[in-house]
Amino acid sequence: MITHLKKTDPNVYNFIKGEEKRQKNGMELIASENYVSPSVLEALGTVFTNKYSEGYPGKRYYGGQEFTDKLESLAIERAKKLFRSDHANVQPLSGAPANVAVYFAWLNPGDTVLGMDLTHGGHLTHGSPVTYMAKLYNFVRYKMKDVETGEIDYDELRRVAKKEKPKIILAGFSAYPREYDYAKMKAIADEVGAVAMADMAHIAGLIAAGLLKNPFDYGFHIITTTTHKTLRGPRGALILSKGTVGNPLKQVEKTIENLPTLIDRSVFPGFQGGPHMNTIAAITVALGEAAKPAFKTYAKQILKNAKAMAEELMDLGCKLVTNGTDNHLMVMDCVTSFGSNGKEIEVALDKAGITASKSTIPDDPLPPYSPSGLRLGTPAMTTRGMKEKQMKQIARWIVEISQNRNDEKKINKIKKDVQDLCLKYPVPGIK
Ligand SMILES: Cc1ncc(COP(=O)(O)O)c(C=O)c1O
Repeated sequence: MITHLKKTDPNVYNFIKGEEKRQKNGMELIASENYVSPSVLEALGTVFTNKYSEGYPGKRYYGGQEFTDKLESLAIERAKKLFRSDHANVQPLSGAPANVAVYFAWLNPGDTVLGMDLTHGGHLTHGSPVTYMAKLYNFVRYKMKDVETGEIDYDELRRVAKKEKPKIILAGFSAYPREYDYAKMKAIADEVGAVAMADMAHIAGLIAAGLLKNPFDYGFHIITTTTHKTLRGPRGALILSKGTVGNPLKQVEKTIENLPTLIDRSVFPGFQGGPHMNTIAAITVALGEAAKPAFKTYAKQILKNAKAMAEELMDLGCKLVTNGTDNHLMVMDCVTSFGSNGKEIEVALDKAGITASKSTIPDDPLPPYSPSGLRLGTPAMTTRGMKEKQMKQIARWIVEISQNRNDEKKINKIKKDVQDLCLKYPVPGIK
């Protein structure tokens, strides 16, 4: 409940109310978004935001840490247990800083990282030429062998690894609808002496629920993740690692065994200042929720919903990258499906209150700002309680809008139907 802002700052109050309405009335299909629980929201808006806590529990630079130490220790314990990790750093301010902190912990300028090709699903922080990381480090690529099945080309991955001698082999993606063979990747990493890192930002909730494979079970050394996607927490990140946890205020040798300490030292004092303790409070709550049986039920429904939406889209003649999905997301080829592009379809859907994000398709001939694909995901609408039946209806609307993208009248009619359906499934924390 917002009680003060209305009087003290009506502008900001009105923006918040407007956003509440937009979220309530609209259909959220952006694969990286979700709705947090009222408890997560409550923890986020607390007095922990007032506190400076540079350092780590028991080793801070400022006084007054009685409750921040307890809080951060609980967050660390919950994260370790949920993901079967030896160590957890809960301080990264978001997913991109978490990945940068790992690079700073392990790499020297000029070192090589082998990551997923960006048009095949890799994320900007895996070495897009527009990032500073790409100026500092040498990023080389692996791809899918077969874009019809989504299988990664592990032979080529091994060939590139042996040639380029990467210091990190990185599994992870923002737009890949299938699962990795982590054992194969780890074997290649071992062969060339690389650290095996997984950026599971998109699928952390599905791994926490035990529905997708946990890279640690295949010997991976590091996992990074955002906390705000399928994990359904506030905007933040975790760096999980295997190895010996030492004193983060003391320098240690650069060995794989010391990765937890190297990572702690990299996050602070290497890269960041004070952690955002209110965010850590909300992350702690989200990790507690993710350990409960109800979360597993939720995660199972995300997968069922994604399969239902993908099948309906394909039945209606849409082309999906890899012809389906094993996780929460799918990428629709808008050129093949509608003779259009991802940007145009994104704009048309937005007019009907359906929010999705344009995306590249493998080896996309179109530019990233106006790519061939559209990425769709089910985590958010599953949180609102929608099931397979609604997913199929949404798929039909997506196709109808895409085929009639210049027909304002038709789009306005669907907008009304979209809104009616959304209002039956409330957003947690919004009245
Ligand atoms: C795989 C992956 N890693 C990292 C990030 C970056 O996270 P953030 O936007 O919180 O910096 C994202 C965000 O979409 C992502 O998908």
